[in-house]
Amino acid sequence: MIDHDIRLGVNIDHVATLRQARGGQDPDPVWAAALAELGGADGITIHLREDRRHIQDRDLRILRETVRVPLNLELAVEPAVVAIALAARPDQLTFVPERRAEVTTEGGLNLLADDPRIADAVARCRDAGLKVSMFIDPDPRQVDAAHALAAAAVELHTGRYADAPDEPARAVELAHLRDAGARAVAAGLALHAGHGLNYRNVSAVARIDRMVELNIGHSIVARAVMTGLEAAVRDMKTCMAQAIGRGD
Ligand code: PXP
Repeated sequence: MIDHDIRLGVNIDHVATLRQARGGQDPDPVWAAALAELGGADGITIHLREDRRHIQDRDLRILRETVRVPLNLELAVEPAVVAIALAARPDQLTFVPERRAEVTTEGGLNLLADDPRIADAVARCRDAGLKVSMFIDPDPRQVDAAHALAAAAVELHTGRYADAPDEPARAVELAHLRDAGARAVAAGLALHAGHGLNYRNVSAVARIDRMVELNIGHSIVARAVMTGLEAAVRDMKTCMAQAIGRGD
């Protein structure tokens, strides 16, 4: 029996990605957030990227008003986005790296890179009373650097664990996550994790000592497309049948 609770933050960026594919209004991540809450989500996570490829400023604005569970905003250390975050005041900010060419976040933020924008962004948000989490690779040096920045939490990047080609490789990555997690907890940081977690690989990460939050998006939205497809096709058949007087 694990003696701590664990929260699920549902990342709804992928719903916005589908909307942006047509440039219209559907599917609306605001609806997705409400349905995720109904399903038991303990938090809603969105990433306002500099290139606005999925979540838009309008989404952040409306979600800030409508989401009843904690709203976690992922962002890069870009001054313009940090200013938006400071104005929106989400319940939690998670700093992530961002590269324009990447399909999704490819690794943790490198806190050893000596980028003055990182310390500046963290300090501004902390001083504004916001809870700051740092998305980092499970590397002890990155954990120490997050602690030195006086962040409240670290989110360990689980991508390498999720992508491990076989069981021995997965065990190695899991050990890195456990070690980095223990170091973070010892330093007083809240322990979060995410990226690439799915219905098969989530258990071992959820069992890491003092893991209190997992942020998961792609696998949940991918499953929703599948589990909801049958009903969606049936509803369209009904619409068409009714149109020609064959339905109720
Ligand atoms: N946590 C962070 C910091 C992320 O950038 C992402 C991806 O947007 C996630 C969690 C969720 O990853 P996935 O969509 O693979 O579940």
